[in-house]
Amino acid sequence: MPKRFTSKDFLLSETAVRPGNETLELTAEAPSNIALVKYWGKKSGGVQLPMNASLSFTLSRSKTITRAKLFPLEKASAQAMFRIRLDGKDRPDFAPKIEQFFARIDPYAPYVRYFRWEIDSHNTFPHASGIASSASGFAALARLVMLLGRRLGLPCDEPFCTAKTSFLARLGSGSAARSVAGPLMLWGRHDAFPVSDDLYAVRPEFEPHSDFTDVRDTIVLIDRGVKPVSSTRGHDLINRHPFREARLQVARQNLIDLAEALKKGDWTAFGRIVEAEALMLHALMATSDPPYILMQPETLRLIRGLQAWREQSGRPVYFSLDAGANVHLLYPGREHQGVLDFLKNTLPELYADRAFIADKVASTKE
Ligand code: DP6
Repeated sequence: MPKRFTSKDFLLSETAVRPGNETLELTAEAPSNIALVKYWGKKSGGVQLPMNASLSFTLSRSKTITRAKLFPLEKASAQAMFRIRLDGKDRPDFAPKIEQFFARIDPYAPYVRYFRWEIDSHNTFPHASGIASSASGFAALARLVMLLGRRLGLPCDEPFCTAKTSFLARLGSGSAARSVAGPLMLWGRHDAFPVSDDLYAVRPEFEPHSDFTDVRDTIVLIDRGVKPVSSTRGHDLINRHPFREARLQVARQNLIDLAEALKKGDWTAFGRIVEAEALMLHALMATSDPPYILMQPETLRLIRGLQAWREQSGRPVYFSLDAGANVHLLYPGREHQGVLDFLKNTLPELYADRAFIADKVASTKE
């Protein structure tokens, strides 16, 4: 069994590295991910620990690419000094979450404060469109921090390196923990999966069936706006949710059943679980206090259209939803043209107006 790490393994003393005085330019990228079993709710009494274990596909073609110019400081600053841009535009609105990230990772990467950071990020997909931009964003930033550590002479061997990158990314955004490798990532302790951990995500110990080696995710962008209720707020509402215990049990069992479906190559069982997870996530939102709805009328139109098309054509195409209105269509690569035709015929105005992002994901052959 792979080695398990504790937070202590990731700690670093302030004097562990000697910064040089040259300006550094580093680039790192990280993929987005779509949760199949959703992370929804955090454990109380910890920092960014998930209430339940989640499993995701890595979206290998939807990425955040982040460059940082690092200017050495005379002496370490009291807190991280940085400026953040997205596509060349200053984004002071991102600063609070990044400030929190840098503060949380400080015991594990104090060398961050030896530099003034100029960060420039670029997404290969629309930001805040529910395609987990915070996941790939914080995973890319965690990779940069790890890369800087290596440039400053810190050793970083596998599997330590991936585990620590995921550990740091988690402290920025929970789902970011899963955006550090692929094609499947498991995050959160689950008794049926001995390698699983709350502190960082891992590749699950099972191999998916060959029918899951070429999985696509076509994301239908129904709403490009910023969501009215953030995921972080949504997670909070779970702690006093009347269905909290039921959710824990269902998520636990769904993960066991989903792993079986992936191992057997059973697309029907896969679709049943993934769709149930998506609808449960939105049902939990609708039954929170206060309740809220993130689906749009077009979300439902698409879901209903898909169900009817599937019934009539028998094609293995299933939907998932994140904490937003957009719809992810998950299917084997051979169905790609069929999916595009379905979207064009069934929802012509949607097809004409919206951007579609087709991703080849979960290819275990790559
Ligand atoms: C619905 O990772 O965005 O996408 O940890 O507060 O940053 P924070 O939340 P976030 O939550 C994602 C929730 C989800 C499901 C999932 O990705 O597992």
